[in-house]
Amino acid sequence: MSTVERKQRLEGLSEKIFLDRYAWKDADSNNAKVGDVVLVLTKDDPKFPTKEVGEIVERTGRVVTVKTRSGELVQSDVEKLTLNIEKTPEEMWDRLAAAMASVEQTPELQEEWTGKFRSILDDWKLVPGGRIAAGAGASEELTLFNCYVVPSPKDSRGGIMQTLSEMTEIMARGGGVGINLSSLRPRRAIVRGVNGSSSGSVSWGGLFSYTTGLIEQGGSRRGALMLMINDWHPDVVDFITVKQTMGQVTNANLSVCVSNAFMKAVKEDLEWELVFPDTTDPDYDTIWDGDLDKWKAEGRRVIPYRTVRARDVWHTIIESAWKSAEPGVVFMEYYNQMSNSWYFNPIICTNPCGEQGLPGWGVCNLSAVNLSKFYDAENHDVDWADLATTTRYSVRFLDNVIDKTPYHFPENEANQKLERRVGLGTMGLAELMIKLNIRYGSPESLEFLDKLYGFMAREAYLASAEIAGEKGSFQAFDTDKYLQSGFMRNITEVYPEVGESIRKHGMRNVTVITQAPTGSTGTMVGTSTGIEPYFAFKYYRQSRLGYDEQFVPIAQEWLEAHPGEELPEYFVTSMDLSAKDHIRAQAAIQRWVDSSISKTANCPSDFTVEETAELYEMAFDLGCKGVTIYRDGSRDVQVLETTKKE
Ligand code: CDP
Repeated sequence: MSTVERKQRLEGLSEKIFLDRYAWKDADSNNAKVGDVVLVLTKDDPKFPTKEVGEIVERTGRVVTVKTRSGELVQSDVEKLTLNIEKTPEEMWDRLAAAMASVEQTPELQEEWTGKFRSILDDWKLVPGGRIAAGAGASEELTLFNCYVVPSPKDSRGGIMQTLSEMTEIMARGGGVGINLSSLRPRRAIVRGVNGSSSGSVSWGGLFSYTTGLIEQGGSRRGALMLMINDWHPDVVDFITVKQTMGQVTNANLSVCVSNAFMKAVKEDLEWELVFPDTTDPDYDTIWDGDLDKWKAEGRRVIPYRTVRARDVWHTIIESAWKSAEPGVVFMEYYNQMSNSWYFNPIICTNPCGEQGLPGWGVCNLSAVNLSKFYDAENHDVDWADLATTTRYSVRFLDNVIDKTPYHFPENEANQKLERRVGLGTMGLAELMIKLNIRYGSPESLEFLDKLYGFMAREAYLASAEIAGEKGSFQAFDTDKYLQSGFMRNITEVYPEVGESIRKHGMRNVTVITQAPTGSTGTMVGTSTGIEPYFAFKYYRQSRLGYDEQFVPIAQEWLEAHPGEELPEYFVTSMDLSAKDHIRAQAAIQRWVDSSISKTANCPSDFTVEETAELYEMAFDLGCKGVTIYRDGSRDVQVLETTKKE
């Protein structure tokens, strides 16, 4: 297939990301020929080798000439090439369907599920997470999990190095990593044996961040890191402000874990104690793991460091988020009250983009139902029947990933078999709503979101329960305890059949639903990402040649069908919405999401610090598990701009 044909074939898709998800293999003297798409080394720098996509235009013996995407001609030894072994989305869907069905027990089941998986992958109805698409059936090395949380570091030099090594190994295989730093003693705390004091949890965070910057993930992307600290930690204020005051930790996303007690102290303007365990406790080195409640419950001593006003800490968080969109906030105590693993595995941290809370050694695999494909034009409604089937098959698809993925650390495998956590989400919500002429953020839209996401949650839970009936429940499943989580109490109240099915069959997966950003995969298939509204309908993307004007496809179509008219009001962008509209939409969806949600509340540039505080408190009151805001213009460089720069 020529480059031009490929371009036509991939029209509407982001070819670059798409190629990144194709299956690749090492070229050898026999398998590379003129016309093949390859990755060629264009810069042989030992520290930063650069590979580019190109097409072989000439071959003489072992020497090939490759024309790269940027038009350059590069000569290379054929053995140094990486060869693209798929040419079309169909070939990719075939590979993914076969890979995921291969773990079914019998040849009949394998055949049945290859067909069923293929039917939902078709036309990008189910878009597998980036890691699954790139690795499944193509690599024995790459992880199929997007998300990892490693246990909080043991509070010793050896413990910190161990965590660093775990993080490095995971990132090198393509996983994003979350680390909660609360187990590390605060700055200036005494370190016995070396007659000195600690440089503090935040400095060690700098080490994890610096190392992240050095790692190329799976050859194609940089590592992604989330660092968190709990609201009781004496270093919490240093943590909140570290990027601004020291310009450090720049390769990590930062979030503060906030408890219900802290939120109450903010509301009532109470004092707040910053504390840390007594490091001279004889069992400190062996048992301290960052879980302060457990430490206290054992009657062990906690040392008060400082008393502050809760509102002062809160204000520092809010002001910093207002200035620079960081830190994020995770309402972690509430998260654990809602969490289905509350009785055996506390959530300690989230993955880098915040949508997946996990216990230490926890992992999760993600995929998204592309809602833009579920518009029933004839009835001007959602195609509910197709959505139900796709959701059900998708749960099995994700459950099979757990058995298909390679595991580097036995602890990840043991934990994943214990809980079989999966995260089915959505993309293309905004596109679907435009098709239905529903304005994102309107009161009508909140009702629609409740119906849509409730429907999907019900289907997903019924599917997981049915798989349990066939293949068994996750190891730590305990019917009564499971059904007592905050989330389960909510869903079974509205859909009692979910509770009945779980009592009858058990449950295959501790959690089933996660709303990820789908940053690369949503862009790849050309729809609105995650649960977000469109950022803009017309935008200028900076390219090497200047600024290119583009319309998103659905707006382009509408404008062509209605010449001379303006886009109607249901074409709403994230900047048209008020910040509160964003939070209301997030809360409506969160009700039906057992894990969390990646969502940005966009605010205008003149949004005040007070309004920001009000917004965060509203998010907590409405049952969101976290908040991320972005105030227009608050970061120096914006990739996408809605106005053209001269
Ligand atoms: O679209 P794709 O499946 O590639 O990923 P996403 O939905 O945008 O991000 C989901 C998760 O993948 C993030 O929360 C991170 O845990 C992980 N990720 C990563 O490790 N490195 C990146 N550069 C992007 C995402």
